[in-house]
Formats: sequence, C-alpha cells, structure tokens
Amino acid sequence: MSEKGDLRYFDYAATTPADPRVIEAMFGCLGLEGDFGNPASSSHGAGQRARRLVEQARKDVAALIGADAGDIVWTSGATESNNLALKGYADRATEKRHLITSQLEHKAILDTMTCLEARGMPVTRLAPNAQGEITAEAVAAALRPDTGLVSLMLVNNEVGTLTDIAAIARVVHAAGALLHVDAAQALGKTAIDVKAMGMDLLSMSAHKVYGPKGIGALYVSPEAFERIAPQMHGGGHERGLRSGTLATHQIVGMGVACEIARNEMQEDSERIARLGERLLEQVLAVPGVTLNAAHAKRIAHTLSLTFDLPGFFPFLLTGDLAISSTSACNSAAGSPSHVLTAIGLGEEAASRTVRLSLGRFTTQEDVDFAADCMLRAVAPCTPVAAAL
Ligand SMILES: Cc1ncc(COP(=O)(O)O)c(C=O)c1O
Repeated sequence: MSEKGDLRYFDYAATTPADPRVIEAMFGCLGLEGDFGNPASSSHGAGQRARRLVEQARKDVAALIGADAGDIVWTSGATESNNLALKGYADRATEKRHLITSQLEHKAILDTMTCLEARGMPVTRLAPNAQGEITAEAVAAALRPDTGLVSLMLVNNEVGTLTDIAAIARVVHAAGALLHVDAAQALGKTAIDVKAMGMDLLSMSAHKVYGPKGIGALYVSPEAFERIAPQMHGGGHERGLRSGTLATHQIVGMGVACEIARNEMQEDSERIARLGERLLEQVLAVPGVTLNAAHAKRIAHTLSLTFDLPGFFPFLLTGDLAISSTSACNSAAGSPSHVLTAIGLGEEAASRTVRLSLGRFTTQEDVDFAADCMLRAVAPCTPVAAAL
C-alpha cells in the first residue's frame, strides 16, 4: 500500500510510515492492560516490565550499529542527538575548541554550529569535492592542533551520497579529536559498525526507519562519555546524560524498527536499488534530466533529479507525487537548498530539482507511475521527451 488518495509517496527521506509490526508493539505499552509503567519505577512489576522492554530496545538499536547497549542514550530524535553531541562537547571543552563540519550537513548540525560559533568556538565548514563528497584528505587539511570534534553525516539527506567515515575517523583520531556522525539518513539503509568505523558519537532517528516520530538515540562511546555534558537536567536518567521519563512506547517502537531493519535491510535495499534503476532508466532518457552526485558513492534510496528544461517546475509533479523539491526543512524555509548549491548547482538548476526517496512500501507500479508523471510533465518542455 503506497497510495493515499491519488498521491504516491516518494518522500521516505523526510519520514517513513511506521511498520505495522512497530505499531502493534507500541500499542502494547500504552493502556492499563499493557506495559504502561514508568521504567524508572523499580519497586513494582509494571515499572520492571517497562524497564525490561526499554533495555531490550536498547539492545536492538545497539545491534544495528555494532554498539554495546550501555552506550545508547535515548533522545527525542536526531535533532536532539546532534544538539546533545555538539553542545555537550562544547560545554566540556576547555582547550580543543575548534570544530569541523561540512556545508552539506542538515540544519540540525549547521544551526547548532552557528550557535556554538556565537559562543566563541571556531568552526570550519568544509566544501565538498566535484562529486559532492567530503573526503578524508579535506578533513586532514582542515585539522588543527586545537580541533576537538569533527561532525559529518554518513548519508546526505538530499542527494544520498555516502561519506567514507572509516577513512575520516583515522585522520580525526590521529589528531586527538572526536568524530560525531549524523546517521539519521543512514540507519537501516547502509551497514553501520560504530567500532569498526571509528565513530565516537552517532545520531539516530526512529521515524526515518519505519519507527515512530519523537524518538531517537545518541551512541556515545565510553571515551566520548566523559567529554559530553548533559543538555537536559532532571532526574538523572540515561546515566545523567539526558533526564526525563523514558517514553516506553516510543522506545519499544524504535527497538522493533531497528530489529526489523537488521533482519531485512539487505533485501529491502536490493529491491529498492532495482526500483531506483528502473525509474532512472526511464527518466534519464530525457535530455536535460540528470541525477545529482551520480558519480559519488550513494545509497539507492534517495534520487535527486535536476530537470534542466525551461518551463519545468517541481509543482508540475507534486499534484501526483508526494516528493520534495528539497529537504523538508528547506521546503519550510522556502530557500534554495544549501546542499544543491554546495555541490555546484546554480539557483535556477536547484529550483528545477526534485528529490524522490523510495522505501519499504514502494512498488514497481509506483515507480512506473512516477516515471510516467515525469515524462508527461517534461513533454511540453522538450520535443525528445514527447517522442519517448
Ligand atoms: C541528516 C539528518 N539529520 C537530522 C535530521 C533531523 O532528525 P529528526 O527529525 O529526528 O529530528 C534529519 C531529518 O530530516 C536528517 O535528514
């Protein structure tokens, strides 16, 4: 099922519907008959049962990223995880106060960096190379003796590029700095192993991986733990790093979502890659239509297409397809995408760009429908498309 009214859903990078298995597990944590207890209420069975569910979910999240369960801290989503990692570091950093990030990051990083800059932390924002990638060489060139933390995304939310985090971790650690990775778009789509890849901090969000909105997590390595100050004070939950009563139903939803992702990610990704190829075959046949970051290492789920054709505007598609003309946050701001301009698109090309993101419930019929919509939309703009 991927149809809602007449609109086909191609915006999985903005958010995913919760998997029915996730919804079922969440229901079991809400009512009197279920596991509604406060996980911190250790004096009775209701609290103890909720605690067991929360700890199982912690194990399921940890297993998806190769972490130890004790290193997972619950948050409200990737925005909060990013804020906790960066501001938490800034609050404890006395000497190594220089921060590095990239121009391709999500606003949850970029705006947090701007906030820290105003507090006197020097920030370097790396530009991508011609393929739209941030390389280990670029990071190495920006590292300084006072660099304390580097924050980069694993998968870009607009163009789907993959960052070579393992190579970057080696240069970052050689300089005595910490590596924070925003994995909101990577979780459940590409293999993550925090230890093998050398990540110190990793931000995750459940609603990008068929879990509920309003829950996420931050992986904090034992080395990083001492260097991060809490941003939410209160009852001392989550080893003092993030206070607040744990939302059992949300956490259980995220745990089940991660367990499903671990079991089904490979198969899902292969199927989505085949669907993406099928879509691209049809659409890229039109001269003037290009796939952004086509030569970079990318995930198959996110396709950024520029229709360099006079007369083409994204609204020609949005009557039939739930897509975004940029990331959801840029859509809200109404400004051209900072990611597209950073990878070299002019303002006009950026305004003729759409992001289609595919997911677990995308069907071949959806993809053919989308291709057909695009061919119909561009037909008046190009005689070649009209003949296809
Ligand atoms: C790369 C990236 N980071 C962070 C976020 C924010 O995540 P959340 O919605 O969980 O706060 C998003 C969501 O769009 C994202 O794509």
